[in-house]
Order: sequence, then structure tokens, then C-alpha cells
Amino acid sequence: MERTLLIIKPDATERHLIGHIVSRLEKAGFAITAMKTHRLDKAEARRFYAVHEGKPFMDDLTDYMASGVIVPMVLEKNGAITGLRTLIGATDPAEADCGTLRQEIGRDKQRNSVHASDSTESAETEIPFFFG
Ligand code: CMP
Repeated sequence: MERTLLIIKPDATERHLIGHIVSRLEKAGFAITAMKTHRLDKAEARRFYAVHEGKPFMDDLTDYMASGVIVPMVLEKNGAITGLRTLIGATDPAEADCGTLRQEIGRDKQRNSVHASDSTESAETEIPFFFG
């Protein structure tokens, strides 16, 4: 079993899409082993996205991530990291494959509804960030 982290972002929680996303994840065979609501402050958001420090979108991204309720969760499945990246689709919803979560509910590159760990290394730091 592999573990990964998914975050439901503020644009999705404010549209009451938590249940819809959880249902999509469970139908795809992911087991949810931890989940909570959380509100990041700006400093926490900067720490979480430290890998993007210096990029032009960093300030807007961290303002946005601190703007509302998020739902981090730990998901388990064989091949969870790759499987979840496939299920959520490309960063930009306009470029995401048909049937992916971001294509279905994402609004734009920033308000793209969900975040998922992109590698084993990311999952190993991102899971303890929320579920130490
Ligand atoms: P996420 O999977 O959470 O990882 C980093 C986030 O940065 C990404 O989703 C997007 O929300 C955001 N992001 C990446 N590239 C851009 C960009 N060019 N403009 C705005 N936001 C971006």
C-alpha cells in the first residue's frame, strides 16, 4: 500500500464540493485513512509550498490557500501517488484530460480545487505537515 496526501482547496470547499470529491476518491478505490478541516495562515502556506519560493505566482498562491477552509487527507491504495495524479489531472483545468477532477470542477491554474503529492519524497514531507 502506498500513501499520498490530497488537499481540497478553498475554491472547492466554498462550493460545498467536499462530499463530491470524497465520493470520486472512494469510487476510484482510495482508502481515506486521515482527514480534517484546516485553515492555513500565510506563513504555513509559504512553508507548505516552499518548493515554489521565488516563483511569480507564490504570493497569490499562498494568499489564496490561506483564504478559506481546506481539507487535507491521507489516501492509501496500490500506486496511490501516480493513480491520484492521474485522477486529478493537469495543474491547469483547461489542459486537464476529460473526466479528471480538475477538468470537471477546477476554475483556473490557481483555483484548481485539489492538490496531490507529486512524488514519494513529497508525500513523505506533506503527510506529516498536516498529520504529524
Ligand atoms: P498544486 O498542485 O497545489 O501545486 C502548486 C500550485 O501552484 C498548483 O497546484 C497551482 O495551484 C499553482 N500554480 C502552479 N503554476 C501556476 C501558475 N503559473 N499560475 C498560478 N498558479 C500556479
